[in-house]
Amino acid sequence: MTTVQEKAYAKINLGLNVLGERKDGYHEVAMVMQSIGLADDITIQEGEGITITTNLEGLSCGPDNLAHKAATSLASFAGITPNVHIHLDKHIFMSAGLAGGSTDAAAVLRGLNKFWGLDLSTKDLLRIAAELGSDIPFCIEGGTALATGRGEVITPLPDLPEAIVILAKPKGLEVSTPWVYNNYKEERVLCIPKIYRMCEHIKDGAHAIWPFFGNVLETVTIPRYPVIASMKAAMVSAGAYYAMMSGSGPTAFAFADSEEIAKKAVEALADFDVETAVTTTVGRGK
Ligand code: C5P
Repeated sequence: MTTVQEKAYAKINLGLNVLGERKDGYHEVAMVMQSIGLADDITIQEGEGITITTNLEGLSCGPDNLAHKAATSLASFAGITPNVHIHLDKHIFMSAGLAGGSTDAAAVLRGLNKFWGLDLSTKDLLRIAAELGSDIPFCIEGGTALATGRGEVITPLPDLPEAIVILAKPKGLEVSTPWVYNNYKEERVLCIPKIYRMCEHIKDGAHAIWPFFGNVLETVTIPRYPVIASMKAAMVSAGAYYAMMSGSGPTAFAFADSEEIAKKAVEALADFDVETAVTTTVGRGK
């Protein structure tokens, strides 16, 4: 095969609850994850060893890049001497809580499975993905899913009916996921999201899951970066709803019932020094 192209969709968390600390240093979580249309484009071609290029200045293309690690892991799992050049055309905001690095790694696993004609099952890819990072298995599956364990145990859910999503991330602000988890304190959480109730109502659409939503990691990231709360308020004042932080942040998202409301929300965000995008939710298999 000469060229393989894969879309690497970003994710948002429709709900995120932390259930406790684990012996392995991670936290037990229950999350509802959702793919969105904001995506990186991954191109795989023949090369020597594993080489990576990207359009994004400052992004390491060496062995520390998750996409590089994914290629190395798959080659070793399949007993292959790697021979690939991978180009990452980045559009997803960096260190944003949108799984940008994780989704590129997942797309590399899916793409190399085709490029090398391995015919590995999704189950095999999920196992390799879980060793590389907690969010990568979801990015293999995509769509709408419940993620439990440390985030790597994926239960697919019916697709959330398509909804318009507005995203906003303070420019240049990067939040470290380990820092957020290390500073999480259960007693600071006032409202626990009802993750399992949310799962039951996913098929009824974004308005139906609204009563069950929440992200407990907001209690760590927002006090440190209050601009996230201000961005949420700006989107809601423009008519958007379900405004919440994604993952460990700092991206905030909200849903809009029309393109017009989304446009107004982006205008309301103009007072902040932010990157914005308007996209939609994406179903499984897209
Ligand atoms: O799995 P991943 O490499 O993405 O996790 C990065 C870090 O985030 C972990 O080393 C850990 O500090 C924290 N984490 C956690 N509990 C999770 C997921 C991540 O404590 N469920």
